[in-house]
Amino acid sequence: MSVAVVVVAAGSGARLGADRPKAFVEMAGRTLLGWSLEQILASAAVTHIVVVAPASHIVHARDVLDAAVMQQQPLTGEQLRTHVVPGGADRRASVAAGLSVLDERDGIVLVHDAARALAPPALFDRVVDGLRSGFGAVIPALPVVDTIKRVDAAEIVVETPDREQLRAVQTPQGFVREVLTHAHDEVLDEAVTDDAGLVERSGTPIHVVPGDAWAMKITTQDDLGYLAWRLQQL
Ligand code: CTP
Ligand code: MG
Repeated sequence: MSVAVVVVAAGSGARLGADRPKAFVEMAGRTLLGWSLEQILASAAVTHIVVVAPASHIVHARDVLDAAVMQQQPLTGEQLRTHVVPGGADRRASVAAGLSVLDERDGIVLVHDAARALAPPALFDRVVDGLRSGFGAVIPALPVVDTIKRVDAAEIVVETPDREQLRAVQTPQGFVREVLTHAHDEVLDEAVTDDAGLVERSGTPIHVVPGDAWAMKITTQDDLGYLAWRLQQL
């Protein structure tokens, strides 16, 4: 089964507070979208890349994608299909826009946040391996280090879940394509914040594989500074 990756890069990055959409902000001389694509292209499994970009940045996104493909696979570029499509008002709408250009050749789809710019190729491979072993949905996650409380509207603690059973979820999240497209079409709950959350409501078991610290999401300037520093240490 061939593997499509939908890279959602259409957010504005309000919490980062830069002068451009977050995916086009640079870290160590490369845009976050460029970093993401470099990692994805280093995973041998990927045959189709769909970048979901802000409508204002379609041409820029296409340039970043073409440059990444040229750099990574100058000879085999024609074996890789690529699309750039405009995103929607929220992340879910942007994922849906990306899914809309997939077809029956794309047996597996991975959905990835461009904001997790340094998620390594091995993480993509791990998720794909899980899908190839027969799961319909596979997500990477890390144990949580803090104790987590559930509170009510008045900030009164309702519950302390057993930390051993909690995981902090990352992307890429991988799915048999039809499992994800059905969940996107059928689940109406607007509180769901990730793709696996939609699939969970549709009843498909979701397999968790180990995440990676490099796959942390860049949300604030502190995150950007921290990852730039980690890159310098390599
Ligand atoms: N995303 C998207 N379309 C949207 C909103 C978000 O494609 N309408 C993408 C972002 O580009 C990002 C990923 O979803 O790669 C995770 O979202 P987040 O980190 O929240 O990014 P932003 O929404 O851009 O940031 P903020 O919430 O601070 O504005
Ligand atoms: Mg957001």
